Amino acid sequence: MKAPTLRPRRTEPPEQGTEFVPIAEEARNEAPRATIDPDRSLRWLRRALPVMKAHKGIFITSLTLSFIGLVLQVQIPNLLQQAIGNSITHHTVPLSHYVWWIVGLGLVGAVMGYIARLLLFETAYDIEYDLRNIIYEHLTRMSFSFYDRVQSGQLISRANSDIRSVQMYMTFAPLIMVQCSIAVVAFIFMLTINVPLAFIAMATTPFVYITGVRMRRSMFPVSWIIQARLAEVATIVDENVNGVRVVKSFAAEQQQLRALSGAADKVQWGYIKDADLRARFTPLVQNLPQLGLVLVLLFGGYMVIHGQLGIGAILAFNAYLLMLQAPFMMLGMLIMMGQRAAASAERIYDIIDEEPTVTDKPDAVDLTDCKGDVRFSHVDFVYDSEAERLVLADFDLHIDPGETVALVGRTGAGKSTVARLLNRFYDVRHGSIQIDGHDVRDLTLSSLRANIGVVLDEPFLFSVSVRDNIAYGKPSATFDEVEAAARAAGAHEFITHLENGYDTVVGERGYTLSGGQRQRIAIARTLLVNPPIMVLDDATSAIDVQVEQMIHASLRVQMLGRTTLIIAHRLSTIALADRVVLLDQQKVVADGTHAELLESTPLYAEVLAQAAEFERDADLEGSDADVVGPDEDGRGLADLLESARGGAHR
Ligand SMILES: Nc1ncnc2c1ncn2[C@@H]1O[C@H](COP(=O)(O)OP(=O)(O)O)[C@@H](O)[C@H]1O
Ligand SMILES: [Mg+2]
Repeated sequence: MKAPTLRPRRTEPPEQGTEFVPIAEEARNEAPRATIDPDRSLRWLRRALPVMKAHKGIFITSLTLSFIGLVLQVQIPNLLQQAIGNSITHHTVPLSHYVWWIVGLGLVGAVMGYIARLLLFETAYDIEYDLRNIIYEHLTRMSFSFYDRVQSGQLISRANSDIRSVQMYMTFAPLIMVQCSIAVVAFIFMLTINVPLAFIAMATTPFVYITGVRMRRSMFPVSWIIQARLAEVATIVDENVNGVRVVKSFAAEQQQLRALSGAADKVQWGYIKDADLRARFTPLVQNLPQLGLVLVLLFGGYMVIHGQLGIGAILAFNAYLLMLQAPFMMLGMLIMMGQRAAASAERIYDIIDEEPTVTDKPDAVDLTDCKGDVRFSHVDFVYDSEAERLVLADFDLHIDPGETVALVGRTGAGKSTVARLLNRFYDVRHGSIQIDGHDVRDLTLSSLRANIGVVLDEPFLFSVSVRDNIAYGKPSATFDEVEAAARAAGAHEFITHLENGYDTVVGERGYTLSGGQRQRIAIARTLLVNPPIMVLDDATSAIDVQVEQMIHASLRVQMLGRTTLIIAHRLSTIALADRVVLLDQQKVVADGTHAELLESTPLYAEVLAQAAEFERDADLEGSDADVVGPDEDGRGLADLLESARGGAHR
């Protein structure tokens, strides 16, 4: 068989000119050049300063160019005034002299402005890229307890809109400041023309500032609320999309739509409030400079009439005031952007400030030559530190190297928790977990997890080919290895019947496959890594009993020499184990062979019977689409009950 390629190949050549040509040759995956200042007492912008500093070269060039461009443009009203005075009124200088100057200055100023903007946008995207990297990198380090709490919609919203608003402010605020600083230059020019009139013209600016501050105060809470509510909407949409199967199977579309429109109404309220405040303040901020024009006309006109001032001066003052209007308007915008950005930054920092709880110790060592001796001693654990009842309390379990142990217990007894603690998704509260005598907290996370293969009951598949999904833990695997793993997991058969065999790209989360098929791919994925310790957490629960029988033969071989913890409730699966451990009331209550437990512990038979009943109900809904066989576990249950009564052997 020809080794398949990793990506589906394009079937037809693209039309000329429509092909997407990426700018970068290769996707970059650099560590962010800067980080957010960890000092939480600082103001948000101050904390983000290192990110801006990382791009200071291009940023400062951009700002300098735009400053020079503006300074050139500020000359124009001055030239205008001179032209009117010297060329039009007194005829001492030819008019063309000024025209050329004004055209020249305008052109140079425009080119400067163009380059400045180009560089500014580049800075903006660089900063956005860095911020996104900082967040993503942080998210990859976060522990499970974090993901238990946060909603993915919230995360996605933070990673998109919040980064955007922070980036906008960080790049455009300095630009607007530069433009406002031109006001100072313009003011100096006005002073050189006429001192009293200059002060009169600028008389309105303090009011613009005061209005801006008041606007800032009233708008800040609203923009905060809007951001938070947008994230709520994102969460509902996210759940709608990811939970579409549940929504549809309960015909709950209307209910979901109601929830969405409820959340959207709340956003709308925020936006209306926002629009109201904006409508009230913006005209004020925009029109106060117009008042300046009127004042100039009144006082300047009086002076001209009395021969104290040339007519050109009024024109120049008007031109300056119009020029100042743009920065003042933008100052209003800047204030609004500032509020948004502050709210967004707080939410981003909320994530960044949260330290991962499960991390490598500074002196952590690698787990090498793992033999597979697993020991839980006096383990206390609870997910939520405020919860009163522990999930595990004084839990003890020892598994010898190469041994296969089945962990049995009621739903919610804490079986999956045991698996999660073993590869340190969470840390124990008291007691310890040791592998080959090493406390798991003294080992590096990467070496620990490389030595423990966990198959979960709800396996997640990526939207890549079946082959890539199986080779996920070992991308260098040859095709033969992938196929061998698939055979061992009982997956080879159905994979070859898929449209493109191993090259078939499975849909998002592998939903184009049945639950049992997904589980088999997940088992193959773990077998391929060949870990010395393996945990199967209800890993065959959705696999039809007949198929499971087939897998068992190969699993038995796979388990040889491998420490295996099987969490299961099917008799057939439990039969794979050397020993059975019953988990109840936070600890191990019985430990022995299947037959011993049947005899000694009535609870054991009860738990198994309950599980079998539960499974029969589930089977009626068809848990595995590709094979529907007789209800083996039903028979198993009958045997079990009989043997429990008669005290027969396994
Ligand atoms: N991520 C979590 N956060 C908080 N509580 C949890 C979490 N996962 C499980 N629990 C709780 O811990 C207990 C044990 O869960 P689990 O180990 O999944 O049980 P089992 O696998 O035996 O069905 C249950 O009461 C469950 O509600
Ligand atoms: Mg479980």
